[in-house]
Amino acid sequence: MTETTADSAPAGFSKAAESYDSAVRHNIAGSRRLVQALPDGDHRRVLDVGCGTGFSAAEMMRRFDVASLVGVDPAQGMLEVFATKLDAFHGVQIELRAEDVMEMDVPDGAFNTVISAMALHWFPDKPGAVARMARALRPGGVMGILTAGRGGEDAWRELLEGMGAPAAWTGWFAENQRDVEEIARDMRAAGLEPIDVWMERRRRSTPPDAFMARTRSVAGHLLGNPPGGFSELDQRIEAALHDAAGPEGFVYDYCKLFAVARKPEA
Ligand SMILES: C[S@@+](CC[C@H](N)C(=O)[O-])C[C@H]1O[C@@H](n2cnc3c(N)ncnc32)[C@H](O)[C@@H]1O
Repeated sequence: MTETTADSAPAGFSKAAESYDSAVRHNIAGSRRLVQALPDGDHRRVLDVGCGTGFSAAEMMRRFDVASLVGVDPAQGMLEVFATKLDAFHGVQIELRAEDVMEMDVPDGAFNTVISAMALHWFPDKPGAVARMARALRPGGVMGILTAGRGGEDAWRELLEGMGAPAAWTGWFAENQRDVEEIARDMRAAGLEPIDVWMERRRRSTPPDAFMARTRSVAGHLLGNPPGGFSELDQRIEAALHDAAGPEGFVYDYCKLFAVARKPEA
């Protein structure tokens, strides 16, 4: 179990787990598009890395005849919310593991499908994580990744820069967003054959309070909020969001990067 430091991303997700599902409806829709993009075939044994509260797992079950699913996520709080939904996974054997992607104790060559939705951008070593996930696949198995795409959230980054947010936050975007070529390269380096890789760019207009709720859910570790309260940084960001919002709300583009690849048959 590696929830490590109080200011790590998994620790932030753990704290915000209870409000995660209502704050990030876009992630649910993204998981659905990722799963719809997987090729038909055998998806009986599934590994879901950064599984969170189980959106992508639920989508896999809806589309395919899943027999067993291992969900890996170091955020115990997210796994606890996932565990409350197990009744909906009737007939699927679910195992939840509180582990980091690089330390997950899952067998090599065992899974038909590995999915990872909206989590890769939180993994410090992205090529290493893709390679670790690829190792878990059977020959002929399929990997589906959804992650933050390069060029998205510029308006949000500029707002953070304008109100003097720490460099650890404003530098996050360039460091962690990925482009089509970059993810395809990491997949090839992991021995996979990319079969469908694309980026979508969507313009969102969001009420500032809803945007703030999403920020507290997905970037809680960067805000440094004390239990039951809000940090000075949190309050300044909230005020800046209200200032920046027009009649339609806070307007920004978000890029999602989807990548589907296959492990060649032995
Ligand atoms: C935005 S949530 C996505 C959850 C879910 N896949 C979804 O689509 O809603 C990102 C998840 O990645 C997990 N995560 C962050 N760092 C991780 C790591 N190093 N290894 C595995 N999971 C990690 C977080 O704890 C969090 O639950």
